[in-house]
Amino acid sequence: MTILLLGSGGREHALAYKMLQSPKCNRLFVSPGNAGTAKIATNIPIGPNDFEAIKEFVLLEKIDMVVVGPEDPLVLGIFDFFKSNSEINHIPVIGPSKVGAQLEGSKEFAKEFLVKHNIPTAAYDSFTSETVEKGCLFLESLQPPYVLKADGLAAGKGVLILQDLEEAKNELRNMLIHAKFGKASNKVVIEEFLDGIELSCFVLTDGKNYKILPTAKDYKRIGESDTGLNTGGMGAVSPVPFVDEVLMDKIENRIVKPTVEGLLKDKVEYKGFIFIGLIIVNGEPIVIEYNVRMGDPETEVVMPRIKSDVVALFQAVANQKLNEVTLEIDPRSATTVMLVSGGYPEEYEKGFEIYGLENVLDSLVFHAGTKLENGKVITNGGRVLAITSFGNDFQQAIKKSYQNIDKLHFDKMYFRKDIGKDLNNS
Ligand code: AMP
Ligand code: GLY
Repeated sequence: MTILLLGSGGREHALAYKMLQSPKCNRLFVSPGNAGTAKIATNIPIGPNDFEAIKEFVLLEKIDMVVVGPEDPLVLGIFDFFKSNSEINHIPVIGPSKVGAQLEGSKEFAKEFLVKHNIPTAAYDSFTSETVEKGCLFLESLQPPYVLKADGLAAGKGVLILQDLEEAKNELRNMLIHAKFGKASNKVVIEEFLDGIELSCFVLTDGKNYKILPTAKDYKRIGESDTGLNTGGMGAVSPVPFVDEVLMDKIENRIVKPTVEGLLKDKVEYKGFIFIGLIIVNGEPIVIEYNVRMGDPETEVVMPRIKSDVVALFQAVANQKLNEVTLEIDPRSATTVMLVSGGYPEEYEKGFEIYGLENVLDSLVFHAGTKLENGKVITNGGRVLAITSFGNDFQQAIKKSYQNIDKLHFDKMYFRKDIGKDLNNS
């Protein structure tokens, strides 16, 4: 098969790495890709939201399958674009339909779906510029901290958690009246604060059947001990050591099953990944968000742990026969640590040469913001490299990641030294 993968991050390098292990994958194109994907596949300079250019390329190269990494093209409706176009509607797209992608594209849509299908989630209400004063009254009825969520996509920045009531009211007005997050904050969901431990559950579904992929925990804050600004993710661990069979059963029966059944009942076409953000409160899993793609850097620990042929899994998704294939998972732990450019997630520089890649032993290096220039690998983004390692437990794995990071260098390189430190082996 010839496959086109859309995206350019560490997630896409990890997906590409796994897809290329499949004997079914003869050729892989990545659009636009990075220096890591350039080494193992063919990068093409087309943006993942440029549907017309993608169509032209797909026809030119006789692509057999399109796998979508990031959320933007999904929310913009790439699945529907293919389906409604007679020249390309025979080509499966791994990712949900435009309506399905609303699970991530609109927090209000996601909350309504959760409530409708009796899936545990935080109490909430949603407001617009017309109902901003009602929103302020609603805030008064809650206990701090206050959770405000921009309805639409806001590049991971649309959630505010505030201690002070007056500040929360001001931010609500900023979002609704002064478009703090542009159009994304035309509507705001105000949610009950949940105090617990976070983890992510990943599901692959064909819209009828599903497979639960390995769980993962990511480290979102820039600073050690979870301090400072939110980032895309600074590291990840899989499996999550505190998830036992009892908790996994609850997650499957109360959350995963009703989610897939809900999509089917609502006639929402969904052939792709669901990434469910959970908070565990007193042993009970509660949904805080859906994403309609894999997480980054969670993919960099989840994909390496999948032993099954992932392209065969994608084919089964496309044919709605996921129940006929098995999913085999590596029992070892995997950890990843993100190397970022100093200043990220605020302003940072690009264009620094990366040294030492050839010295890495026994870890996988997934490229995120990198590019090739005159044969050199240079930094091209805030998050630059993800260093993934295996171990019998996550402590062994993380040690290996840090040992290899010692061999890597670029100007202003920064990483968290405490990935996994909050976890105990269990
Ligand atoms: P989201 O974009 O919905 O994942 O939210 C970003 C982060 O905000 C999450 O990873 C949580 O740490 C936090 N968060 C979101 N919703 C809640 C909530 N209801 N209670 C506590 N923390 C939350
Ligand atoms: N690491 C979180 C995300 O991909 O949204």
